Amino acid sequence: MKQSPSYFAIIGDPVSHSLSPAMHNAAFKSLKLPYAYGKIALAKRQLPSFFKGFAESGLLGINVTVPHKENVLKYLDRLSPEARLIGAVNTVQLSKGKLIGHNTDGAGYVKSLWSESKWKPSGKKIVILGAGGAARGIVTALSLAGAKEIIIANRTPKKASRLAQELRVKLKETKWLACSLEEADLLEAFERADLLVNTSSGGMQGNALPPLPLQALPKKALVADIVYRPAQTPLLKAAKAKKLKTQGGLGMLLHQGALAFEIWTGKKAPLAAMKRALNRALKDSASPR
Ligand code: ATR
Repeated sequence: MKQSPSYFAIIGDPVSHSLSPAMHNAAFKSLKLPYAYGKIALAKRQLPSFFKGFAESGLLGINVTVPHKENVLKYLDRLSPEARLIGAVNTVQLSKGKLIGHNTDGAGYVKSLWSESKWKPSGKKIVILGAGGAARGIVTALSLAGAKEIIIANRTPKKASRLAQELRVKLKETKWLACSLEEADLLEAFERADLLVNTSSGGMQGNALPPLPLQALPKKALVADIVYRPAQTPLLKAAKAKKLKTQGGLGMLLHQGALAFEIWTGKKAPLAAMKRALNRALKDSASPR
């Protein structure tokens, strides 16, 4: 029997630690919407049958996380301009029987910069650490929001150059540069940066970033990390010690979720309820089990 379509879910592998269900279920409850949001762990080989059964499954939309943000592209009917530019999807909407892919990661990040730090990309110079999937989404959105110059600094400089070269062709309003994580390269980049964002997995779980010349950053620069667990990453601690402004990664999770919610429901996301739920879920998941 066909179920009435009233479900949402996050797909990924793994998904057990995702905070998205707590955030979205709180939003549905807050607006009294008859929806529920769950988690579906899917290996890559399970994607064809998952998407084949999508229309009959009762799902109205999904979020997509690691490692499927690019894997899902071939199952979708259409892509938003941003998802096409980024080449990855984190939100899928079922609309009139068609699956539409969106990417709210980057735009959510730009929103979080404004709502948490009153920081706008227009005319600014930005240094991004990392050249993977997360960096790609964020720099694309920063460029679309008017960033003047973006320097992609990566442990493997060739990967940074390749990404900068690709974006130089697609997003001509921004000046794209690439460099290594060597101190001499970073010094030059940091001296003129308005924003430093760490998107690399360096700094997580004993995977240390090399020492960064934070002293070269202008005093008013904002230092941000997209990691939210822990809230105070080694980079943010070091930046605080240098009296620089800092921003953690929870706002990105909140605002990418809020944008997905708005795509799915056409309603303004209840940000306060979503943020409360995220903080609660984060606290619960940090407690010993
Ligand atoms: P994501 O989708 O989260 O961006 P990814 O595509 O695997 O993940 O990219 C991880 C990024 O973190 C890469 O830029 C990686 O650098 P390399 O291209 O040199 O591999 C970066 N990274 C991982 N560990 C790092 C470390 N210890 N120091 C610096 N950069 C690191």
